Amino acid sequence: MPLVGTKEMFERANKEGYAIGAFNVNNMEILQGIVDAAKEERAPLILQVSAGARKYARPGYLIHLVKAAEEDSGLPIALHLDHGEDFEICKQCVDGGFTSVMIDASRLPFEENIKETKRVVDYAHSKGVVVEAELGKLAGIEDAVNVSEADAKFTNPEQAAEFVKRTGCDSLAVAIGTSHGAYKFKGEPKLDFERLQQIMNLLPPGYPLVLHGASSVPQYLVEKCNKYGGKMPGAQGVPEEMLRKAASMGVAKINIDTDLRIAMTATIREIFYTKPEEFDPRKYLGPARDAIKEVVKHKIRNVLGCSGKI
Ligand code: G3H
Ligand code: 13P
Ligand code: ZN
Repeated sequence: MPLVGTKEMFERANKEGYAIGAFNVNNMEILQGIVDAAKEERAPLILQVSAGARKYARPGYLIHLVKAAEEDSGLPIALHLDHGEDFEICKQCVDGGFTSVMIDASRLPFEENIKETKRVVDYAHSKGVVVEAELGKLAGIEDAVNVSEADAKFTNPEQAAEFVKRTGCDSLAVAIGTSHGAYKFKGEPKLDFERLQQIMNLLPPGYPLVLHGASSVPQYLVEKCNKYGGKMPGAQGVPEEMLRKAASMGVAKINIDTDLRIAMTATIREIFYTKPEEFDPRKYLGPARDAIKEVVKHKIRNVLGCSGKI
């Protein structure tokens, strides 16, 4: 099966009340861990590549790995550019075989974000590629200590409706209190579900919304990292019940990267610590790949709800 877009994936997810996991790929072991999990769970899958991943692996390498995974697994896989910062990188990915791109011009003022997004949409659509855009600032709730600060940073529902209408983007990443990385909340985790509902109410029914910064930062993995020489004090993610709620409300795509990084690092740390004589990379990268697989299987089954959906 060739790489697919996300339109049908999102339509079905919306009808049946589940979300699709979008997992970040940086190398072969991460990719195989994710795909092995999706294959066992019979789950639709979005594999995403950031600019940093592209730079690290060098353009071209990850696309070929993803194509190999798709041929080997027979799964419907969408290949997505994560946080494309301008038209140029989006164009390179559209031309290079990605089936979905994100233009993240959320740092720009509203009108400029619209202009840059529309430019990408026009080009990508002419080549049959779908586009995710972003509106709002993806910062943790601790950065928004009061309502007016939250209003300034988080996605404005009226603006979201206008943005989607004027750009024609196929999905929209919204800011409701999540943030990237392993330190998402200083105190109690909190997401602005009321705002999420208002955004949904103003968009066409079933319009696909995206939640970035959606790792849960499992505490057993943080503890394992710390036990074997790591230093991640206060690491905290989005509680799984909040992600289940977002999925049940109609969020179509849930982005996860940090949890894979922690799973990989905790596993490698343990092996380095407990088996200092080991020097064959396959002996620690193989278990790291298995650890990623377990994390992804858990997400598919218990958080996203997309197990058995293909
Ligand atoms: O959105 C952030 C993702 O975790 C990708 O991170 O830019 O370090 O590859 P990165
Ligand atoms: P996390 O850092 O929470 O895994 O978020 C990943 C993400 O949003 C990638 O775009
Ligand atoms: Zn992101």
